[in-house]
Amino acid sequence: MKPEIKIYPDANQIARAAAEEFVRLANEAVQETGRFAVALAGGSTPKTLYSLLAEDEALRQQLPWDKLHFFWGDERHVPPDHKDSNYRMANEALLSRVPVPAENVHRIRSEDPDAQKAAADYDQEVRSFFQPGAGEWPRFDLVLLGMGPDGHTASLFPGTTALSETERLVVATWVEKFRTFRVTMTFPVLNNAANVLFLVGGAEKTEVLRTVLSESAAPQFPAQLIRPVAGRLVWLLDEAAAGTLSASG
Ligand code: 6PG
Repeated sequence: MKPEIKIYPDANQIARAAAEEFVRLANEAVQETGRFAVALAGGSTPKTLYSLLAEDEALRQQLPWDKLHFFWGDERHVPPDHKDSNYRMANEALLSRVPVPAENVHRIRSEDPDAQKAAADYDQEVRSFFQPGAGEWPRFDLVLLGMGPDGHTASLFPGTTALSETERLVVATWVEKFRTFRVTMTFPVLNNAANVLFLVGGAEKTEVLRTVLSESAAPQFPAQLIRPVAGRLVWLLDEAAAGTLSASG
């Protein structure tokens, strides 16, 4: 399926469009299966989305909070109260402000000093939630992603071993430029989602985005390898990031 590309004036409008999509997909999934499983992203635009879901009364009331299950696509190797924690960001902006049961919040336990162990434990947690059959992958209803100016997405950074993982759902990966481990979901699980929504803003991403969204470019950036096998891929861009790209799909 071809990706859909949507362009908005600024990051606030991306967040608004993402919030509406979130509400629609959550209600669809809950009607069909009784629950909605989403993998959250870190980063600035998602934060605006999370605040909006908590603060906008109309959106908030349309969500069946007790049926929503929150996971994370990636996490920094820090405790949950650390300023860099993706869990902390989502908790402050959204989860602590809405009636979501604590057992529906599936965070990465990255306070574990052993990042490999944190990743293996999270792999197990995701498996026990979805209970995929042999040879099957979990299917998230929605995966939210951002993209860095180096073309990374989740914590799948250029040149790292995590990019070639074909068996594990979650790995710990050393990111040399930050001299730290990150814990991240891998391509096979991200690409098995029913919907993948990229939220990307800022002129510093235009060049990479042009390659990532080009149909003919050779694989160069991790974000290019996000291609849902049987799902929708939607890019929500602001005008600065889009540059001369035009909307499609
Ligand atoms: C993280 C993210 C990461 C992020 C991009 C874009 O933990 O940092 O999950 O992949 O989405 O770096 O971040 P911005 O949207 O803030 O530019």
